[in-house]
Amino acid sequence: MKIVAANSNRPLAEAVAAKLNLPLTRAAIRRFADMEVFVEIHENVRGEDVFVIQSTSYPANDNLMELLITLDALRRGSARRITAVIPYFGYARQDRKSGPRTPISAKLVANLITEAGANRVLTMDLHAGQIQGFFDIPVDNLFAQPLFSRDIQERYAGRNIVIVSPDVGGVLRARAIATRLNCDLAIIDKRRERAGTSEVMNVIGDVDGRDCILVDDIVDSGGTLVNAAAALIAGGASSASVYVTHGVLSGGAVARIAASPIEMLAITDSILATEAVRLANNIRQITIAPLMAEAMRRISEETSVSSLFD
Ligand code: R5P
Repeated sequence: MKIVAANSNRPLAEAVAAKLNLPLTRAAIRRFADMEVFVEIHENVRGEDVFVIQSTSYPANDNLMELLITLDALRRGSARRITAVIPYFGYARQDRKSGPRTPISAKLVANLITEAGANRVLTMDLHAGQIQGFFDIPVDNLFAQPLFSRDIQERYAGRNIVIVSPDVGGVLRARAIATRLNCDLAIIDKRRERAGTSEVMNVIGDVDGRDCILVDDIVDSGGTLVNAAAALIAGGASSASVYVTHGVLSGGAVARIAASPIEMLAITDSILATEAVRLANNIRQITIAPLMAEAMRRISEETSVSSLFD
């Protein structure tokens, strides 16, 4: 088993390698003067079971290209099996035609990854589970839910909590946590009553006087969660905290969250935290390194990955 780290999230790759007691494979992933990506693997990989760790987060296109070119280098180096470990799978939100003459970019990216040489994919909290079907190679989709459930249990013991999905699309994810914690579920239903009127946020469920915990897969601009938290507080909630797997946090998201009623935002380290995220008082990171490492060990030993979530 060998682990190759591309550049998007080296601290996570190092933490995974440390958990597995393996050194990172020596490799150089660098740029030519015109920013073309060049990859050189400095160790023999012939016949090896190789895992490439790369989130296709910001800058999404550069990080995707690094992944593709690394896969190509490993395939041409005669690796026996190559697993693309993509903790955050960018382009996942483009998973269907959103209008006439629009692309399904998640499918295109899946094709590129397969064509570049991946034999398997390991990822986490795909925006839509069906994206697994965009690949004709095996895909293991891990869930942050057990990590979040444990953290919530530790922090909110004895409090009157309710798990909240910020939109109808996230209900399955939120319900999994509510079921595990044996607590209530609420849902925010966003609705535009008439064209041209502003969106109304209806809270479905009992949040009055309770500590609300919103759960989502991605926080990007922060708009969805900030609006949801405001609707919960307006509905009588005592507090609103958030657990999100992928902290994309683009543009002014960190400042928007700091100025919002969100008491605490917990994200994983699937995406490397920026300086602003690290310094934010109300943002915490929960590491996925042990979970990723264990899944990689199981893939390598060809034992069950799904039983990690039993
Ligand atoms: C939407 O379907 C996703 O699950 C997230 O709710 C969304 O991507 C968050 O985006 P933003 O933070 O920009 O509102």
